[in-house]
Order: sequence, then structure tokens, then C-alpha cells
Amino acid sequence: MAESLITNGSNDKDEQYRTLLPQIEALLAGEDDLIAACANVTAMLKQTFDWLWVGFYFVKNGQLVLGPFQGPLACTRIPRGKGVCGTAWQEARTQLVDDVDAFPGHIACSSLSRSEIVIPLFNTAGDVTAVLDVDSELLAHFDQRDAEHLAALGRLLSPLL
Ligand code: SME
Repeated sequence: MAESLITNGSNDKDEQYRTLLPQIEALLAGEDDLIAACANVTAMLKQTFDWLWVGFYFVKNGQLVLGPFQGPLACTRIPRGKGVCGTAWQEARTQLVDDVDAFPGHIACSSLSRSEIVIPLFNTAGDVTAVLDVDSELLAHFDQRDAEHLAALGRLLSPLL
């Protein structure tokens, strides 16, 4: 893959994801290193959507441990079941949080974060081995379309997880 990203300038989320996901697929076709792949995926997501924070946490020794990300300094470790990320891991379900202040136990890494979406990522055996976390400064910034497209992105990563 060429080291440049095509963005279509559209304000339509579906369009933006439709432009982005094939480029991520092309990137992953030539890369078997998880960290390298995830690092570029966060850069591509940040460049496309300009979210406040986007990054991965990996399941390691019974905790979530920070992986590649773009955005402000973040907490390094999150216990299972804690915060939005730990809940997505424990429940193996996407967490769509319109208002982080209304989510019991939300972990505030940045005081600027207002809404959040966390996608559990499954390996090919069906275990959650990572989560993808995205934060926005805007309330209710994420919806079901983000959930679906980001889950599709997660499926592209499965063989590396
Ligand atoms: N807000 C997350 C913690 C991670 S940071 O947002 C990057 C949570 O509640 O799990």
C-alpha cells in the first residue's frame, strides 16, 4: 500500500467509512505485525474523522493494556469490567455512550471527552483479545453506523489478534 490516505471530503459517515475500509483492508493484506497494523489504523481513523482520541487496548494478563493510539495521553491499564473499555471486554459487546458522565464508572482519561464508542475485537477463535476505543468532544457523536463500520474494521483485524 502507498503510504498515503485517500479521504473523500464527504460529511457523510457511511461514505467516509466506505472510502476508508478498503484502504485498511489493503494495508492489512501486506502486514502481519499487530502493532504496526494497529498503529497505522489509528492514524487512518484520526486523519479521516479527526476524533479526540482513537486507540487500541489489548488483553494482557487479565487486564487491558494501552496499545497504539492517536490523541492525548491516556490511562495505561484498565481492569476487566471497569470503565467503558472494561465493560466492552467483559460483555463482549459494543458500548455506545452518548454522554460519558451518565456511564457509571466511566474512566476519564481526558476531561474533554463527552461521548465514546468501544468495540470489542475478537480473534479467530472468538475470544475478545482487544478493544477499539474512540472518544469525541461532542455529545452523542457516535451512532449505530459507527458501531457497524468499526465492527467490520475489527473483523479485518481478527487474523492478527
Ligand atoms: N474512557 C475509557 C478509558 C480509556 S480513555 O477514554 C482513552 C473507559 O471508560 O474505559
